[in-house]
Amino acid sequence: MARKIIIDTDPGQDDAVAILMALGSPEELDVQGLVTVAGNVPLSRTTDNARKILELAQRADVPLHAGCARPMRRKPVTAEHVHGPTGLDGPSLPAPTMEVREQHGVLFIVDALRAAKPGEITLVTLGPLTNIAMAMVLAPDIVERIAEIVMMFGAYSEGGNITPVAEFNSYVDPEAADVVLSSGVKITMVPLDVTHQCLSTRSRLTAFRDIGNACGIATREMLTFSEGFDIKKYGWDGAPLHDPCVIAYLLASKLFGGKQVNVGVQTGDGPTAGMCIVDWWRVTEKPANVLFLREVDVPGFYKLLTERLARLP
Ligand code: BDR
Ligand code: CA
Repeated sequence: MARKIIIDTDPGQDDAVAILMALGSPEELDVQGLVTVAGNVPLSRTTDNARKILELAQRADVPLHAGCARPMRRKPVTAEHVHGPTGLDGPSLPAPTMEVREQHGVLFIVDALRAAKPGEITLVTLGPLTNIAMAMVLAPDIVERIAEIVMMFGAYSEGGNITPVAEFNSYVDPEAADVVLSSGVKITMVPLDVTHQCLSTRSRLTAFRDIGNACGIATREMLTFSEGFDIKKYGWDGAPLHDPCVIAYLLASKLFGGKQVNVGVQTGDGPTAGMCIVDWWRVTEKPANVLFLREVDVPGFYKLLTERLARLP
């Protein structure tokens, strides 16, 4: 039976590709809903971008809820310098027409978890953890009903991508991350240490286009746009592809390797705000709270992604 998931996301081109990958995998993943959050761009844009992607995949039936418009304590931080002013620059997708459900995304998460059997729903997070933390604060009873949270989040040996030490999702809302990391929920973390290995080289992008379907062509156009900034920044053969790694883990965990460790996040201000503190060598007595991934079979990941995009319109 397909695993029930809720995707919490801030599209973002790489979020968009992750959503497509999940929708291309109905035998394994049953997408119960999408919840948007402020992150790569403001909430109104992440929500419109989610609508565009659902319509591109001809899946306007998937419930879409807008979540939080700002982090728990801080001012929003966005990344138009990477994703473009819309957050989904690259392809020219039609203005979306599908509805956004009236219910707030945080309440949707709470209701969905309460309505399901305990341990039935996995939360998949591709952006800052604001909505998940707010749901936990609002309704602590949901914590033990969550099967697992699989998140694109954080970094260890790769350092940061928005400050020298902090990964973007972690930096935007460290207070939310602190609530989630200390909740006791089973967590799998896909950090920059993994995603920085998954480079969208020109030949991989061409393979997406060569599928010949609208989703494959749009994927190449989206990633070609967001690559521009990263290729200049890193000087690599392609840009790292972040959020689809989370979906790949759900589909084929054997492509990844890691270990159970303690992970905390630096709250407060100053140059280490949002930094992940990863006890990789277990030098503290703190209990492991995260399966922290560091290894990935890169060709296997791109093969899987290309296959799943090929199942879409
Ligand atoms: C993460 O930040 C965002 O820019 C991407 O969508 C991804 O979720 C990578 O640090
Ligand atoms: Ca994201």
